[in-house]
Amino acid sequence: MIFKQLFDKETSTLTYILADAVTRDAVIIDPVFGQEKRDLAALDALGAKLKYIVETHVHADHITGARAIKDATNAKFSAGKATGLSCGDVMLEEGDILHFGNEVLYAMSTPGHTDGCTTYRWKDRIFTGDTVLIDACGRTDFQQGSAEKLYNSIQKIMAYSDEHLIYPAHDYNNRRVSSVSQEKHSNPYLQLDKAAFIETMDGLKLPRPAKIDIAVPANEYCGNADAAGIDTSKIAHAVSA
Ligand SMILES: [Fe+2]
Repeated sequence: MIFKQLFDKETSTLTYILADAVTRDAVIIDPVFGQEKRDLAALDALGAKLKYIVETHVHADHITGARAIKDATNAKFSAGKATGLSCGDVMLEEGDILHFGNEVLYAMSTPGHTDGCTTYRWKDRIFTGDTVLIDACGRTDFQQGSAEKLYNSIQKIMAYSDEHLIYPAHDYNNRRVSSVSQEKHSNPYLQLDKAAFIETMDGLKLPRPAKIDIAVPANEYCGNADAAGIDTSKIAHAVSA
């Protein structure tokens, strides 16, 4: 198996490359705008042929790097069907799978942070987006957020056996991987029952993401900023903010 984790310092976003070790067919999960050169170089170094660009959700904090990577590789754009994106190539529902070489990526619908949030599993690795973060979880106060749905989605992920690894979309404290077991025991949000979880999430007073008004429209066009009418100089700013 080929697995590479990449980190964008400016947005604390974790990007993942998975590939079949024999055929070199590959998938990239949650690329970040401005990191296309890095990502394409990483694919090149692995001798990888990119088949799919996969998004865990419509991000509010950064613009996806999907557009430039798609232009360079002709890979298909894929995300959850419930995102409502009309720019995607392969839109996934619960239980849908993506094949890359002899490898399989399984999609599961995990709404709550946003309606279209999709968690992916490959072997013993679960890519949770912002549904489960290390010792945290995604916020539920915008983009169709629902604490009740998020609670149910987290239970769905935690139903996997303890040794499954958790790879989130972000970490702000230099951590890179967790496990179902670790999150069950140490994630403070997972110690709450449903009512307490909803009350806690609904009571969070979080600042509005600085670049949400740029990131969400661009991501609704699968990272095609021009189509979204976004000034590219603002996008560059969005990455560094
Ligand atoms: Fe998010």
